[in-house]
Amino acid sequence: MKGIVLAGGSGTRLHPLTRAVSKQLLPVYNKPMVYYPLTTMMLAGCREILLVVNPADEESYRRLFGDGRQWGLEISYATQPRPGGIAEVFLIGRQFIGNDRVGLILGDNLFYGDSLPAMAERGAKGSGAVVYAYWVADPSAYGVVEFDAADPERPVSIVEKPKDPRSNWAVTGLYFYDADVCEVAASIPRSARGELEISDVNAHYLREGRLTVEKLGRGYAWLDTGTPSSLLRAAQFVETVEERQGLFDRAHRVVIVAGGVREELQRAFLLHRFRLDLRMPWMGLAITSLGFGLGHTLQGLDAAIGFVEAFRAVLGRADILEPRLVVVDEARGADGEADHNVIDLVVLAQLVELVAQSDVVRDRREVL
Ligand code: TTP
Repeated sequence: MKGIVLAGGSGTRLHPLTRAVSKQLLPVYNKPMVYYPLTTMMLAGCREILLVVNPADEESYRRLFGDGRQWGLEISYATQPRPGGIAEVFLIGRQFIGNDRVGLILGDNLFYGDSLPAMAERGAKGSGAVVYAYWVADPSAYGVVEFDAADPERPVSIVEKPKDPRSNWAVTGLYFYDADVCEVAASIPRSARGELEISDVNAHYLREGRLTVEKLGRGYAWLDTGTPSSLLRAAQFVETVEERQGLFDRAHRVVIVAGGVREELQRAFLLHRFRLDLRMPWMGLAITSLGFGLGHTLQGLDAAIGFVEAFRAVLGRADILEPRLVVVDEARGADGEADHNVIDLVVLAQLVELVAQSDVVRDRREVL
């Protein structure tokens, strides 16, 4: 499954914040904004990601993500010379998409909800176009879907930024399409504002009877971050959830335990590196509770990568494998709750073995 994260645009509503910095690199509480949509794409099962950015910002994104291998992703980059509309991404990304179904997410959209992985997967595995609608108080700044009065699941119209919205259902910034979306986007005319409108692409699928609009209920949060107030609200939302649930801590709760390595050594390392005091009788590493779309997947992996790097330094061994990403469905988290996705860095077993065999570690115990 391929995914595109669209992180161009001009961000005029956030000027002067966005005069020198790309909007999607601004912080939302403790992570760059683009972490959130990228995590959502990962939850949908996308491992091949195209990041579309403004030419002036490409270098910054490359510094942040590289080729994504450290997270088990393949990230490539394309630039949009000027903001020509969201649907222009399908002209820019035509080669990347090839004959595959593709997901698109806007780089300033934040989704949160217990069922987010299943919701995104339905779009990824569906056919035609699958988009999501969310009830908002004021839908006039969005594409608005009208549903059939007799059949509330059947969309009958989609209109971009209507003056008199026919419903409160706004189309969110997460979309899935068959590969023919490239032809569809190439066939639609530019709008009065000179843009290729994503609503026109969706209206095309609607006319062909190939559009599914899934309603996101009240159990989801969909936030965008395009104005100073909405950016602040999103940051406060993330802070509230993370602090209350301790998700930030849990994302960092890398548990490494080794048969071969002396227990006190591991404990010293964990205490030193993560301020964790753990005694466990098995080896492995798991980062749990990452399934709900607040960017913890990447945050946890960052922590794990730091952990591997620290081990590398201590062992003086450059040949320790890069962490690899394995997604295990419905595994149990450390707290006993079912997690939709557990990221398991399988390399840790190898790492631990190396540590176990290593005299270097014993010699350098005091370093830890
Ligand atoms: P918008 O928020 O509609 O536009 P913007 O980011 O340029 O901001 P402003 O309206 O304040 O000037 O865009 C939604 C998302 O889509 C955002 O993540 C930027 C992205 N985008 C592009 O990457 N290219 C485009 O041509 C457009 C229109 C948007």
